[in-house]
Amino acid sequence: MTLEFRAEGEVTVGYRVKRAAQLADRIFETWIEAPHVARNARAGQFLVLRIDERGERIPLTISAVDGDMVRVIYMAVGKTTYQLATLGPGDEVRDVAGPLGRPSEIRYFGHCVVVGGGVGIACCPIIARAARAAGNRVTGIIGARTAAYLVCEDEMREACDELLVATDDGSKGYHGFAADVLKRLVERERPDRVWIVGPAIMMKVTSEVTRPAAIPTVVSLNPIMVDGTGMCGSCRVEVGGETRFACVDGPEFDAHLVDFDMLMARQKAYLEEEKVALERFSAQRCGCGTGGPHG
Ligand SMILES: Cc1cc2nc3c(=O)[nH]c(=O)nc-3n(C[C@H](O)[C@H](O)[C@H](O)COP(=O)(O)OP(=O)(O)OC[C@H]3O[C@@H](n4cnc5c(N)ncnc54)[C@H](O)[C@@H]3O)c2cc1C
Ligand code: FES
Repeated sequence: MTLEFRAEGEVTVGYRVKRAAQLADRIFETWIEAPHVARNARAGQFLVLRIDERGERIPLTISAVDGDMVRVIYMAVGKTTYQLATLGPGDEVRDVAGPLGRPSEIRYFGHCVVVGGGVGIACCPIIARAARAAGNRVTGIIGARTAAYLVCEDEMREACDELLVATDDGSKGYHGFAADVLKRLVERERPDRVWIVGPAIMMKVTSEVTRPAAIPTVVSLNPIMVDGTGMCGSCRVEVGGETRFACVDGPEFDAHLVDFDMLMARQKAYLEEEKVALERFSAQRCGCGTGGPHG
């Protein structure tokens, strides 16, 4: 972290990027020096960052901690995530707020299963490690479109007692969805606790697998967030017929009580504005109009 004094009385705080790498097509990792986040972060929590003074605040899960550094793994989908992907060691992020959200409930359950889909896999090793440290047997299930999108596979293998892999196209592991792999496992034995992290549709479908056997299942919701502190209401979700704010009441909730259709509808609320922001960023950055991170 660096302190910089601009005008009299005005202190600005920037957070140094220490490492950055591309992990897969449009998926990147960035390690940021943010001691106040790193020292207090627990599994399941997220941070909110803003790249520069005019930037948008975006939430990203804390996927690992190393000393004073935190790691975020993200898919470049719009203006801010593309811009973040252009930052390398020595660059700065203007604000990093966190850790935010309630940590995962970690205690001894018995047999835990941690299921990750797509970029959601990035959140799984930290949960799997914590569950194992609490004495649980942990099975990991990771699924992606193709083998090339299986991020953090080695970390998951190391964090879990057993790791099962699925790809939609059969390029690695089971040919099919993570939900199918979970279904087979549930038919074989009844796990005591299941976490599912991934795109909303994946969480919706996968949590149906554990519903008939009433296996306690937790999902990490990703509604659009603005302030991350429960004040703006943009992250409201419906859980068990009640309105909850994902940033302060979650992001983890009982999967069998979440209204996923409402979550998916609200995620699309700003599609037009997001498109315009990305087009403007692309035009400013290189003039080529692709919006891609060109380094
Ligand atoms: C608690 C939490 C943790 C998250 N952790 C991660 C993470 O670890 N890695 C990661 O890649 N993403 C994560 N997300 C999603 C991430 O915040 C969005 O991808 C990001 O805000 C997009 O910003 P943008 O300006 O690049 O794109 P925008 O222009 O804002 O959006 C581009 C596209 O992404 C969709 N989108 C925007 N926000 C979200 C969202 N919150 N969830 C799903 N789709 C969204 C939009 O509908 C649009 O289609 C998390 C979201 C939450 C709420
Ligand atoms: S992001 Fe504003 S209330 Fe949750």
